[in-house]
Amino acid sequence: MNYQWYPGHMTKAKRMMQENIKLIDLVIELVDARIPLSSRNPDIDELSKNKFRMILLNKSDLADTRYNKEWAEYFKEKGFSVVEVNSKSGAGLKSIQGAVQEVCRDKIERDRKRGIVNRPVRAMVVGIPNVGKSTFINSFAGKACAKTGNKPGVTKGKQWIRLNKGLELLDTPGILWPKFEDQKTGMRLAFIGSMNDDILHMDELALELIRFLQRHYAGVLENRYGLEETVAEDGKDALGMLNRIGESRHCYSKGEELDLERAAGIVVDDFRSGKLGRITLEFPV
Ligand code: G4P
Repeated sequence: MNYQWYPGHMTKAKRMMQENIKLIDLVIELVDARIPLSSRNPDIDELSKNKFRMILLNKSDLADTRYNKEWAEYFKEKGFSVVEVNSKSGAGLKSIQGAVQEVCRDKIERDRKRGIVNRPVRAMVVGIPNVGKSTFINSFAGKACAKTGNKPGVTKGKQWIRLNKGLELLDTPGILWPKFEDQKTGMRLAFIGSMNDDILHMDELALELIRFLQRHYAGVLENRYGLEETVAEDGKDALGMLNRIGESRHCYSKGEELDLERAAGIVVDDFRSGKLGRITLEFPV
C-alpha cells in the first residue's frame, strides 16, 4: 500500500506559522504519544529556532505507560521540556505551568534584570492535524481565561488567551502536515487515523496492525475478541487471525462469505479508540 498525504493548504499554513512564530517565546508542540516521532514534522525544528520548546505527549491515555516514560526521557535529552497529557480528561495539564516557568527561566530572569516584571510568556500550540490541538487549547485555557483582544504591535486579528499573569496563548494553533519519506511512518499515521481512510485498504492496514500486535503485544487480540491463542508455523499468521476475528464478530456478507474488510475495520477502530488497551506503535532507539 502506498501511504500518501494530500495537504490542502500546506503553503498557506506554513506561511501563517512563520508569521505567528515571530510573536512568541515558546512553542508548545503536541505529538501523539503512540507515535511521537511519526506525528512530528521535522521542519518544526527549523521554524522554531531560538524559541523555547515544549513537547506534550498527548493522548498519553492511549499509549503504553512504560513507553510514555521512555519517550519523555528521549525528548528531555534532546533539550525539550516534556509533559505527558490527556487533553480530553485534563490529566497532566496542571504540570504545564511549572514546566513553562522552568523552560523559560532564562527569559524570565533576563526580563527581571532589565526591570521588566510580569511580562507573560507568549506561547503557540503546534502539531499535525488530529493530534488534539483544539482539545488541548480548550481544556488548558478552560473557561476561567479571558481573551485579551488585539494589542498594539500585534498583527490585527490575533487573539491571545491570558491563562494567568505569567502565560498567554495564541488562540489559533499552528498546523503542520505530517512529513515522511518512508512508508512505515505513513502506515503509523494511518493506524492512528491521521490519513484519509478513503485512500487506504483497510484489510492491509489491519493485517499490518495485527502483525505488529502479535509481535509486540502478544495476547491483546485474543483477550479482546475472546479467541484462543494459536501459533502458526512461522509464528505470524496475521491473515488467520483476521479471519478468526471476522468469524467471532459474525462479519459475514450475504453469501455467507467472511467480510474481511468489515473485520479489518473493527480491529482498526478498536485500536484507535483504545479498546485494545494502551499501545505504543514506535519505540525510542
Ligand atoms: P486537532 O485540533 O489537532 O486537529 O485535534 P482535535 O482537538 O480536534 O482532536 C482530535 C481527536 O482527538 C478528537 O476526537 C479529540 O477528542 C481526541 N483527543 C484529543 N486529545 C485527546 C487525548 O489526550 N486523549 C484521547 N483519548 N483523545 C484525545 P474525535 O473523535 O474527533 O472527537 P470526540 O468524539 O472526542 O469529540
